[in-house]
Amino acid sequence: MAESVTITDNRTGESIEVPIVNNGVDAQEWAKSMPGVWFFDPSFSTTAAAASSVTELDGDAGILRYRGYPIEQLAEQSSYLEVAYLLTHGELPSSDQFDEWRHDITYHTFIHENLRKRFMEGFHHDAHPMGILVSTIAALSTFYPDAKDIFDPSARHKQIIRLIAKMPTIAAGAHRHSVGMPFVYPDNSMDFCSNFQSMMWKVAEPRYEANPVLSHALDVLFILHADHEQNCSTTAMRVVGSSHADPYSCTAAAAAALYGPRHGGANEAVIRMLTQIGTIDNVEAFISDVKAGKGRLQGFGHRVYRNYDPRATIIKRVADEVFAVTGKNPLLDIALKLEEVALNDEYFTSRRLYPNVDFYSGLIYQAMGYPIEMFPVLFAIPRTSGWLAHWIELLDRDARIARPRQLYDGAPPRDYVPLGQR
Ligand code: CMC
Repeated sequence: MAESVTITDNRTGESIEVPIVNNGVDAQEWAKSMPGVWFFDPSFSTTAAAASSVTELDGDAGILRYRGYPIEQLAEQSSYLEVAYLLTHGELPSSDQFDEWRHDITYHTFIHENLRKRFMEGFHHDAHPMGILVSTIAALSTFYPDAKDIFDPSARHKQIIRLIAKMPTIAAGAHRHSVGMPFVYPDNSMDFCSNFQSMMWKVAEPRYEANPVLSHALDVLFILHADHEQNCSTTAMRVVGSSHADPYSCTAAAAAALYGPRHGGANEAVIRMLTQIGTIDNVEAFISDVKAGKGRLQGFGHRVYRNYDPRATIIKRVADEVFAVTGKNPLLDIALKLEEVALNDEYFTSRRLYPNVDFYSGLIYQAMGYPIEMFPVLFAIPRTSGWLAHWIELLDRDARIARPRQLYDGAPPRDYVPLGQR
């Protein structure tokens, strides 16, 4: 077979040929040919844990597409709500379908009063907004018992609408609580991103007027963050979903995975790094330290992209639009200099390290006034539609429960010794 690998088991001298299908080895074919011999791959870096039609990512070519549509076209011409429909339904909506979708999302933005009063307001005054978000999403499942009917199409659809619609309300509520400001109710006369800004920033004015440039910039950032195939949080969504838990519990698990600094927290690390560098004059010395192995250049490099992250190119343009309104983030000049020095340095070019989406997103969020603790929360709002798209796909394809193998490397068999004799 031309498209195959030949493996020789040196214990028996037996050779077998395993077909290569879609550039990979099908584990079921492998198991038939090599029973008892399995792969050790703790970070799944050589294992495709799912077939998926949601997002296509070619890291070598710097390509990202949702349902076949290039991210550049979606960021330029679409809106987050339309992208959320595309991800969860597989196709772009007709204009009637979109009107209905936007109406349904808009009219499910409110959260149950008890969720806010008895649950969210029960958190300590300085609770991290991401901790509040993760717990509140999980608590939603107790308000919607019908969420357990995951194979009932109408119940499933309802939870999808509720989750996408309520995320901004919960996210803004988490922020307001963490800074001691009163909760702001959704204003359903506003578009998705303006309403979110109103719930974040409104003080005493009767109606918050969101700046359209900032609403549009936020919308583009939401499009860019809506999905990224089998990342850590999506994998969490799929693993929990494979046990047939309700979508709120699955989404809470995915959001918890996003909380970690290696995933949703990288843009925060970029801001801390730029603040620590302090001035352009320190950039060369910082790069020398990175090359000497003293720390990493945050916002550079990616497990999958070995080329420019296409999202980083779009984000740079958004940054210019935002800074024209907010004034330039003083850390921008340091970031630009860092990028220039790194992209002309053999250490970074030979390792194919380029700016990723997080190199500029934190600068934009900071210029818009969002505190650093809100960065992963801002990521979770749009990623909810991506998580749900994978959850729907998993159920529709009747995926088996996730249950990886384990390589046991603990103690050999031993006898229990009663406490008094130890
Ligand atoms: N600064 C300096 N050197 C780096 C960096 C960096 N940011 N990233 C990778 N390298 C070097 C690394 O030291 C290694 O060098 P050598 O071959 O001499 O040992 C080589 O490049 C390969 O690195 P790796 O650790 O094998 O790469 P990885 O695929 O395991 O890690 C990464 C990917 C994103 C964790 C890493 O590039 C990194 O830590 N970047 C900084 C953090 C960051 O920006 N994270 C955001 C990712 S985008 C968010 C998202 O899409 O969800």
